[in-house]
Amino acid sequence: MIMFRCALVAALIAVAAAAWQENVRPKVFAQLVSGVDDTHKFLGNETHTDFFRLLLRDGNYLLVGGRNVVYNLSLTDLTEQRRLIWYSPENDVKMCVVKGKDEESCQNYIRVLVSLGPGRLLVCGTNSFKPFCREYGVQRDSYHMEREKSGQAVCPYDPEHNSTAVYADGELYSGTVADFSGIEPIIYREPLQTEPYDSMTLNAPDFVNSLVHGNFVYFFFRETAVEYINCGKSVFSRVARVCRDDRGGPHRFKQRWTSFLKSRLNCSVAGDFPFYFNEIQSTTELIEGVYGGLNAQLIYGTFTTPPNSISGSAVCAFSMQDIADTFEGTFKEQSAFNSNWLPVNNAKVPEPRPGTCHNDSRQLPDKTLNFIKTHALMDESVPAFFGEPIVIRTSFHYRFTQIAVDPQVKTPGGKAYDVLFIGTDNGKIIKAVNAISYDSNKRAVPIVIEELQAFAAGSPVRALRVARAGRDAARLIAVSDREVLSLRLHRCSSDKISSCSECVALQDPYCAWDKQAGRCRAYSHGVSRWLDENSFYQSVSTGSHTACPHSKDAGAVGGLSSGLYDDARGENKGEVINIVQDKDGKGNSNNNEGPEVLAADPPPAAYSVETLALAVAAGALAALGAGFAAGYICGRRCKKDEDDNMPYPDTEYEYFEQRQNINSRIQAEPKLLQQVEEVTYAEPVLAPQPKPASPRATLRKHPPYHPHHETLFQFQPDAYRRDNFGTLRSHQLTQEYSDHRAMGTGAATTTASRRRVP
Ligand SMILES: *[C@@H]1O[C@H](CO)[C@@H](O)[C@H](O)[C@H]1NC(C)=O
Ligand SMILES: *[C@@H]1O[C@H](CO)[C@@H](O)[C@H](O)[C@H]1NC(C)=O
Ligand SMILES: *[C@@H]1O[C@H](CO)[C@@H](O)[C@H](O)[C@H]1NC(C)=O
Ligand SMILES: *[C@@H]1O[C@H](CO)[C@@H](O)[C@H](O)[C@H]1NC(C)=O
Ligand SMILES: *[C@@H]1O[C@H](CO)[C@@H](O)[C@H](O)[C@H]1NC(C)=O
Repeated sequence: MIMFRCALVAALIAVAAAAWQENVRPKVFAQLVSGVDDTHKFLGNETHTDFFRLLLRDGNYLLVGGRNVVYNLSLTDLTEQRRLIWYSPENDVKMCVVKGKDEESCQNYIRVLVSLGPGRLLVCGTNSFKPFCREYGVQRDSYHMEREKSGQAVCPYDPEHNSTAVYADGELYSGTVADFSGIEPIIYREPLQTEPYDSMTLNAPDFVNSLVHGNFVYFFFRETAVEYINCGKSVFSRVARVCRDDRGGPHRFKQRWTSFLKSRLNCSVAGDFPFYFNEIQSTTELIEGVYGGLNAQLIYGTFTTPPNSISGSAVCAFSMQDIADTFEGTFKEQSAFNSNWLPVNNAKVPEPRPGTCHNDSRQLPDKTLNFIKTHALMDESVPAFFGEPIVIRTSFHYRFTQIAVDPQVKTPGGKAYDVLFIGTDNGKIIKAVNAISYDSNKRAVPIVIEELQAFAAGSPVRALRVARAGRDAARLIAVSDREVLSLRLHRCSSDKISSCSECVALQDPYCAWDKQAGRCRAYSHGVSRWLDENSFYQSVSTGSHTACPHSKDAGAVGGLSSGLYDDARGENKGEVINIVQDKDGKGNSNNNEGPEVLAADPPPAAYSVETLALAVAAGALAALGAGFAAGYICGRRCKKDEDDNMPYPDTEYEYFEQRQNINSRIQAEPKLLQQVEEVTYAEPVLAPQPKPASPRATLRKHPPYHPHHETLFQFQPDAYRRDNFGTLRSHQLTQEYSDHRAMGTGAATTTASRRRVP
């Protein structure tokens, strides 16, 4: 057996290594030189960290949330036009400090801002861990507060919490947490919410984005995977959706979504044992384009490996059609605790089909509603468009964070490409394209055009956006915790790019060789015949053009580009560019010699060091992949055929501990959202049910292993006798916190019955 496993692992390493592609080297490394034109910078409050959020684009203005402030910036040069100042009331700050948060957190970080109509804004802030929302009227040169209400379940408590919100049909949809300690995740639109404390619905999610499409609102997030819990803890990426016309169900479903479904997003390197980039970090808005002759609406996202593993990052795209298809497919269920999660036989799915939109959801039958409550997860995962990640990076130094896409940039000849801007957690912005996206939607060929050090190496890129203001050229807006930058999208006309072949070799959709002018340039208003391939030479898919004289050094370095340049810090240029030059090798001498064309042969030393590093990284990743796969197989094997004798005590322990944890912390915070007469359902572990028909019922009956189980169960019999659906919360609230609740706001009430554990 052991020998078999060893052989298996060895085989796996071979497979994984074979499937892994090398990092694609950027063609250009660029660095911003401060104080130079054409890069605009906004610093906000220079003495305190603003934790900036890009909140709204209002015509030629950009609204950026900060610390006790919303900044209204001009899109053209990031100059501050005006500001909306909103400090937390002193009492809230005091209470925040009393509850043990530090002074920096006990501020009002603005996290949500939507336009309610002309001249009206809804603004929500963390308000010292007591979220609040206000409506403002935009006046001639100030903002006027009109009303305010609790921002619970709309805005996070913690400024760093990963939340999302989107405004549609006059309603705000939010994905966040609804409690002080950040353990009650929620997808909310007044008055509907997801089931509280139900790990089947949301299990410690980090939301990354939300958007409206068709009849649905979609949420993108990562969460601890319930379907994987038997095999250890893992985080999966998800897309969830609710119907826009959902009005809640009858009676006990009155304040619950009746249409909440979710699917896994599959961003992986294919193989016998696929390697998954499991943790989604960001997505773009909806991108429409033509890919291999097919019209599609895509969402691009960045995905990474877990924080404690070797860092790998990828960009995957998903089509809205594929996402919708998974929601039309089979459901997933675990028929008994400890058994595998399997597809649900279609014959078991009630009519009307759970998760489809109905014009009056309040008339849906209980059968449908009960089904969707326990079957929110779809069986199929959403496959990546193009069949594979578009860009993969392995690096010990950074991971991808944010992504922005400039859709369908037209190149001479008429082909159009999506240009990807990818932020990293060490302040870089990587610009990439899929070189064959116009010709194929089955495959991706990554081209990394440029790597730009936009922020200091310790500053993660927190947001990216491509913004066009009027007839000005589009700009890339990049945000870190302390800075907002506005950057050019390209560096085509850099004087370092002096020949046709160099220009074409960039494979940058923004750039083309202007035959008439004899220089590399970008499209701008007034350039006629841009699309005429006889006037402008470009070939994004190949990087070479027959009309360009093949310069002596073309394709010299790894076939990537044509030129080897010394990096010259141009006194008036603003950027340091070195094309296909190693960052640490020769030629990077930071002198002012100006461009210098080197011989065709690449400097061997520097290049081979990089190759070595890559080899090490690939090996490590291969091992990681193999380990994962081996574990997975073992997991499946054990899980399948051993009887209920707890094959994974550790896992089990962890699972219970997690529950227990929630348990104990619930006491620390009352449930503030309005509840229907306790229609909430019991937490799996906590409320025994008479008929072990459902998987969760089985779970409840499972012999307790956790040392805390007695604590867990001690109030149960009572709870059960009283109310089948009694929540944990309803029994746990203690007098001590009623005071706290009393401090809550108008909208925030609770109807949970408060009963003490005997
Ligand atoms: C920065 O924040 C501090 C503390 O909130 C405030 O006193 C100061 O005025 C702010 N500075 C600017 C430039 O807004
Ligand atoms: C931002 O400032 C500009 C210029 O003062 C103003 O015209 C615009 O209405 C402001 N936008 C918002 C949403 O405050
Ligand atoms: C939010 O996400 C980032 C990375 O995506 C992570 O580092 C951070 O811990 C998350 N915030 C919270 C409060 O979990
Ligand atoms: C994810 O996609 C890969 C590659 O297409 C495939 O091999 C794998 O089975 C998929 N995984 C899931 C869970 O669907
Ligand atoms: C829902 O649709 C049905 C038929 O499509 C229609 O008869 C009914 O009036 C609609 N109900 C509402 C509340 O719009």
